[in-house]
Amino acid sequence: MAAGDQDSRRIVALREELAHHNHCYYVLDAPEVPDAEYDRLFRQLQSLEEKYPALVTPDSPTQRVGAKPLKAFSEVHHGVPMLSLANAFDEGGVKDFHRRACERLGVEHIDYSCETKLDGLAVSLLYENGVLVRGATRGDGRSGEDVTQNVRTIDSIPLRLLGKDAPRVLEVRGEVFISRAGFARLNRAQRAEGGKQFANPRNAAAGSLRQLDPRITAARPLEIYIYGVGVVEGPADEILAGTYSAMLERFRDWGLRTSPETRVARDAEGCIAYYRDIMARRDKLPYEIDGVVYKVNRLDQQDALGAVSRAPRWALAHKFPAQEEMTVLKGIEVQVGRTGTLTPVARLEPVFVGGATVTNATLHNQDEVKRKDVRIGDTVVVRRAGDVIPEVVSVVMSKRPKHTRRFKMPERCPVCDSKVERPEGESAARCTGGLYCAAQRREAIKHFASRRAMDIEGLGDKLVDQLDEQGMLSDLSDLYRLKLEDLAGLERMGEKSAKNLIDALKKSQSTTLARFLYALGIRDVGETTARSLANYCGKLETLMHAEEEVLQEIPDVGPVVAGNVHTFFRESHNRQVIRKLIKRGMNWPEGVVDRDKLQPLSGKTFVLTGTLDSMGRDEAKAKLQALGAKVTGSVSAKTSYVVVGVDPGSKATKAEQLGVVMLDEKAFLKLLSKK
Ligand code: IVH
Repeated sequence: MAAGDQDSRRIVALREELAHHNHCYYVLDAPEVPDAEYDRLFRQLQSLEEKYPALVTPDSPTQRVGAKPLKAFSEVHHGVPMLSLANAFDEGGVKDFHRRACERLGVEHIDYSCETKLDGLAVSLLYENGVLVRGATRGDGRSGEDVTQNVRTIDSIPLRLLGKDAPRVLEVRGEVFISRAGFARLNRAQRAEGGKQFANPRNAAAGSLRQLDPRITAARPLEIYIYGVGVVEGPADEILAGTYSAMLERFRDWGLRTSPETRVARDAEGCIAYYRDIMARRDKLPYEIDGVVYKVNRLDQQDALGAVSRAPRWALAHKFPAQEEMTVLKGIEVQVGRTGTLTPVARLEPVFVGGATVTNATLHNQDEVKRKDVRIGDTVVVRRAGDVIPEVVSVVMSKRPKHTRRFKMPERCPVCDSKVERPEGESAARCTGGLYCAAQRREAIKHFASRRAMDIEGLGDKLVDQLDEQGMLSDLSDLYRLKLEDLAGLERMGEKSAKNLIDALKKSQSTTLARFLYALGIRDVGETTARSLANYCGKLETLMHAEEEVLQEIPDVGPVVAGNVHTFFRESHNRQVIRKLIKRGMNWPEGVVDRDKLQPLSGKTFVLTGTLDSMGRDEAKAKLQALGAKVTGSVSAKTSYVVVGVDPGSKATKAEQLGVVMLDEKAFLKLLSKK
């Protein structure tokens, strides 16, 4: 078929665009667009070229995956080409793949080895007589860069294979990557030294392996998992006779690192079950993955299936929905939180990312908007990962239109028009309207009603908005004036739920002083502080009259919190609301001061790992114990904090895996000083 003008121009444009992104990604290690966008452009070009084979040129990105080796490294020719993988983006794609494989092999069932798709870079390691003689990057699949010096610095790569039965020549392939913890550490170190920040672990791994100076590579937390084989010669080439999973077993025997997440599964159903299992655990894995890989397990079947152009017919990458996508930022609105904090929120052209459609994403605060140079009209990269609030990561500068508008934090609150102030040294701007501000009032009521505060069942966010719109809630105490008739008139409110809510309100009035204090929403007074205040003072009256210096003596209360508490109770409006709440029935048992509970860290378990600059381990331990904490030697799910010093051991890794809060030395000292 002859190509129309439009199609052939599109092909040229796509090649140019892909070449640009390829350069950013592979050569500069600084991608401009999310991978998903690159993949999309690539697929577009692929399908156009399939339609018009005559227009395929040798320099098309489809004919060459990856960039040419950098000049300074010598080139390595891959005896067996390093192939890439075909992709599936949904379950239908997996079923098609499986069906085609069954047809080609003339079988009804196939066993697959399922593994995680690590987000790093592929390398080849060549062992001769058991000794590592060469390491190379994948490059364009046919030849890559000689990075022997660099791979030798990676601890998880053996310099000599274990045992004596490895083949005379064994070339294995695997993925070099950086774990989440390693990535965080690396970027922290880079910041401390004024170096550049890496955008993601993949780029950090690629940038680290392709260093001309192996000493730099050695200082980077690179790791490897082996998942494939290249050239094999000599006695033990029977490893090629059985299954892929048996081959991995042998690799493990020889001291090569393979992924612990590898499983054998039957047919498409088994693969899909594996995908779902990994997807559910994705955020808990210690490294980032962008999907899973299925490989036909029998090696003779792999051979029979062979390869097409750049990918084998016996393997498939089943990709996760991308966690980063591109979209247009249509506007920036300012949201007012419970304590008056103003947060700029991006209004976006709806975009499907991380498995959901996103229309809003946080920009955090004005400093962040400025740092990222985000402007209205820009094309931005949006990230949504797991349960984390979607955020604007960066601007795609090459897509910036001529006329963009900059964002400026308003000087007056967009909700109540009170003055906005930004306390020195803080990143947050705040509305000074207090409960006069409808946004703050509503948020304060939502907080008051929430489970860990007064726990008023049935009083959800929407209902609070509705009641406030009707002018029924000028302050918190109005909640306890609500009558059945008031509620019955509201939209979507049945008689039964109205009655339930009245009952819940009544029930919530018998509470504890700690809950009540927390519910009031005093700035920086969380549950723990509220408990401390209640325990120490016993009575609300005492607390309301306490001077700042006295408050500071309370465990868990520093000068900032003491100031906030003092100011809160000085405010006549707040005192009035409290009085009304009590008058309308709020009650709690009068407290007995419990000295044991007063220990600020009682009930908390700490584990120490690595060395601290400022004190020895015994001293740190004594300090913690003096504050009521327990200090133990090993990390478990019950551990509250792990203090991580220089050169931490496996405890840090364990903590990372279990999601235990880790404190570096600075945070640890801060915690001690606050007590
Ligand atoms: S197998 C012939 N297995 O994904 C098969 N690749 O998109 C070649 N990758 O270049 C690769 N995890 O860098 C394989 N478990 C895994 C993988 C994996 C990550 C990377 C690898 C490859 C790319 C293809």
